[in-house]
This record gives sequence, structure tokens and C-alpha cells, in this order.
Amino acid sequence: MNTMSMQRVCVSDFEKEARKILPKAVYDYYHSGADEQHTLADNEAAFNRWNLVPRVLRDVSTVDLSVSLLGQKLSMPICVAATAMQRMAHPEGEIATARACQTLGTGMMLSSWATSTIEEVMSAVIDSQDGGCVLWLQLYIYKDRELTLSLVRRAEAAGYKAIFVTVDTPYLGRRWDDMRNHFKLPPHLSMSNFSTASLAFSEGNYGKDSGLAVYVAKSIDPTLCWDDITWLKKQTHLPVIVKGVLNGEDAVQALKYGVDGILVSNHGARQLDGVPATLDVLEEVVKAVQGRCDVYLDGGVRRGTDVLKAIALGAKAVFIGRPVLWGLACEGEQGVTDLLEVLKEELRLAMALTGCRSLSEVSRSHVRRAEFASRM
Ligand SMILES: Cc1cc2nc3c(=O)[nH]c(=O)nc-3n(C[C@H](O)[C@H](O)[C@H](O)COP(=O)(O)O)c2cc1C
Repeated sequence: MNTMSMQRVCVSDFEKEARKILPKAVYDYYHSGADEQHTLADNEAAFNRWNLVPRVLRDVSTVDLSVSLLGQKLSMPICVAATAMQRMAHPEGEIATARACQTLGTGMMLSSWATSTIEEVMSAVIDSQDGGCVLWLQLYIYKDRELTLSLVRRAEAAGYKAIFVTVDTPYLGRRWDDMRNHFKLPPHLSMSNFSTASLAFSEGNYGKDSGLAVYVAKSIDPTLCWDDITWLKKQTHLPVIVKGVLNGEDAVQALKYGVDGILVSNHGARQLDGVPATLDVLEEVVKAVQGRCDVYLDGGVRRGTDVLKAIALGAKAVFIGRPVLWGLACEGEQGVTDLLEVLKEELRLAMALTGCRSLSEVSRSHVRRAEFASRM
């Protein structure tokens, strides 16, 4: 760590610094939630509605954070969620993020809308089989199914280990800042997985709307339904995880369609304002699933204690979105490495101080609904 990064002791330190560094339209794109951003605030506030219940005198001289996810061993249950267009935060973008994940021994979900290709990111790291970074592909289903399948094929060929299919984006949410900023990519960048300007989001003019909303309306398939999960499952040998489930009934439905995992997510509150905080629906989903597949959570995870609470409520692992972008903006690969290390150390300490020596010892009894919860 250099002198600058020593002052970043928690996720919000990274965000404060990143906000000063990033151009306004980029910070706004990364930070925004949908509409009035009630759910954006609630995703974080939900963690304060739970207290941790420590158990004492349990010899916590060693704490094992490792977890096995979709057949891959990770050093911790904190993984990187798909966030689009990371080269706006730092010239090395997704490659820096993947290398940081490799250093930490964790996994990264690469966005379909990355500004580095599926192959470039994989070739920047050592394959997970040899102890490197575990990569998963986040998949948007395009109106053009051949194009969609080509992303899957490329991920398979490159050695990605799973497909996270995003199911909460038939249209893009109304993100007011992006609409006001007429958000589009800077001219030197494109969504690198695509070869034409219209698919690579590098056309010059998107009118007065958020350029991304125009892009989604043109390209992403709003007819998506459960049968498409069957279709996807038939197309690939990779595990398929649905990203964007927010209730028990959809979780049961997902199981009927043979998914290999469920990511409880509201897309970082960027789609529909007014939906519940993800932590508030986690238990419902976990109860509905009854151990038949892994359940993960993303949304508002900012501290090691948040991770511990999500695991106590039944998540196998959590994913983080925005904090990684703050780390990237602060200091590229080193910034993301430092950020992940902060979260890892916070989780290690939280586990030790609640008397948990491994993730298998974390249970529902380690959290209790806070009666007088503050909504910080
Ligand atoms: C700037 C940004 C870009 C995102 N891009 C994608 C994406 O390309 N695909 C996707 O499925 N989710 C995307 N997400 C949602 C994240 O995968 C994740 O669900 C969310 O960020 C988690 O919440 P958090 O940011 O509070 O950690 C994006 C989120 C942000 C903030």
C-alpha cells in the first residue's frame, strides 16, 4: 500500500476519493439508482436493521474465510459483481479488476458490456485451475440470439466457469442523472465484446435520453421469459445462475427451470425504485430454495459486517458492484486490491469477534433484528 491508500480504511473512503477523481457524468453513471433512489439508500440501510450476536470464548486464533462456489475454491465469500464499462474508471478497467481478484483469490463476474473483451480479461490472469482468478460471464440476452450465443461460446472457449444471466433488465431503469447527462461512452471506448458501432454502444448520437436506455431498448430482448432459461441451459454445459430474483415464488420457479444458482439482486437499485432492499428478501428466497441451489446476494454490501449478516441470513457469498469502481478510480489494480483487502479483513475480524472460525459456523443465530435500528 502506498501512503495515499493507507488513508483509505473503509469503502466510503474509496468512494470519497473516487468522486473527486472521476468526471461528473462517469461518477453519476456509476453511482446512480433509479428514480428517487429510495431503494438505493435502502440497500445499505437494510444492513443496519440487523444486529450481530457474538458468541465468546471460542478460540478464534485462526479464521478460515474460504468457500467453494460453483465448484471453485475462493479465498473469501466476497466476489466482484458485473459492472459495465470499467475503463471509464481507469485505463486498465476490467483487466485491473481481474488481476486484483487474482491477488485476493476470489471471483469476478465480467459484464457483457465490458470495455475489455472476454478473451482479453481471461488472458490477463492465470486460470483458476492453476490458482488464479475465477471468471464468470454476466449475460444480457439480446434480441439477436445468435449474438447472445456467441458470447456464451466465447466464455466457454476462454475458460469462464459460469453464466450469470441478468433477468431484471427487459428495459433500462430511469436513472435521472444519466438522462440529464445524456450518458454515453467517451469516444475512445466501446463495449469491446461487440464489433459493430450500434452494438458496441459507440454510435455518436443517442438523442436527449440516456444513451444506455436507447441502446437497451434497441438491442436487449424484452420478451425474455422462463422458457428462455430452458433454452440457455440447453445451449451450455456451464452452470447458469439467474441474477435479479427478489422473491420466493420466482426462486421456486427458477428451480423448476433447472438453474444452478440464484443471485438475489435488484441491480444495485438501478432498475425499479421502490423494490425491497435485497437483504430484506434474502431469507424469503433462502427458505423457498430449501438448500436446492446456492443463493447469493448483491446490493449495498459495504462492510465486512454486512457480508457476515448476509451469510448468517443464508447467502453462500456476496457480490459487490460500486465499491470496486471506486477502488479502480482511486488506483487501478492496486486500488481494487486494497479495497478487497479492506473488506476481507473486516469480515475476518467480524467473524472472529462473533466467535465464528469458518463460514460453516456462521448461522442464523448470529443475527437478530435490531429493535431500534437507525437508518444511517
Ligand atoms: C455502474 C454499474 C454498472 C452495472 N452494470 C451491470 C451490468 O452490465 N450487468 C449486470 O447484470 N449488472 C450490472 N450492474 C449491477 C451489478 O451487477 C450489481 O447487481 C450491483 O451493482 C450490486 O449493488 P452495489 O453496487 O450496491 O454493490 C451494474 C451496477 C453498476 C453500479
